[in-house]
This record gives sequence, structure tokens and C-alpha cells, in this order.
Amino acid sequence: MKKLLAVLTIVCCFGVTAAFAVDGGDLYKKRCAACHRDGTESSKAGGDVVLKGQTAQEIEMKLTGYKDGTYGGAKKRTMERMAGQLTPEDIKALAAYVGSL
Ligand code: HEC
Repeated sequence: MKKLLAVLTIVCCFGVTAAFAVDGGDLYKKRCAACHRDGTESSKAGGDVVLKGQTAQEIEMKLTGYKDGTYGGAKKRTMERMAGQLTPEDIKALAAYVGSL
């Protein structure tokens, strides 16, 4: 019985942690896929940029750059609006996800 309780406690705690952690893939689908599709191509609104193949560090640097106005091309206004809504945790989770595409 003690063992069962221990197992239940572990399962329960991990479940709760997972529920609070930011899921990069989920966030990408909701906030980014409309323009960047699956990362291998972008719609016209997505500025024709390809995200697949970039490292997590590059994506994190670019998203942070859009957020603080130190990175961007001709269509940076669009991404500044997107990145402005992201928390540092969101950016890390998205960067890890995009970096693994
Ligand atoms: C409304 C369309 C749109 C949405 C939604 C969008 N983006 Fe973008 N994204 C763009 C455009 C346009 C550019 C090119 C901006 C420029 O000229 O700097 C871009 C550029 C980028 C770049 C830089 C690529 C490079 O190599 O320079 C990254 C990284 C990026 N987006 C990630 C994201 C992520 C992550 C999300 C979701 C949070 C997202 N974008 C949501 C339109 C969008």
C-alpha cells in the first residue's frame, strides 16, 4: 500500500508540473503555424522565412530581438507584435521546439 501511494504521488506531481510547463509545440501550432506553417515554408504573411534548420539559440536570439527591437527585416513589425506577447518562458519553449524541427 505504501508503495502504491508513493507511485501515485510521483505520477500526480509530474502530471501537475507538465500541466504548468509551456509546451512549445502546442504554442507554435496556436500562435505561429498560421504564417510559418510547419517551419519548412511560410505563407506570404510569414515573410517567406524558413525556420526549420535554425538552432534553438538562433530562434531565441531572433525572438528576443524582435521583442526588444534589435532584430528584424522589412516585415519586422509583424513579428514585433507576435514576440511582444511572449514571455521569456514562451520564447525558450518555442526556440527548443523550432530548433528540433
Ligand atoms: C502574422 C504572421 C506571423 C505570425 C503569426 C508569426 N510570424 Fe514569425 N515572421 C513573420 C514575418 C512577416 C517574418 C519576417 C519579419 C522580418 O522581416 O524580420 C517573421 C520572421 C520570424 C522569425 C525570423 C526568421 C529569420 O530567420 O529571420 C522567427 C524566428 C519567427 N518569425 C518566429 C515566429 C514564432 C515563434 C511565431 C509564433 C509565436 C511567429 N513567428 C508568428 C510572420 C509571422
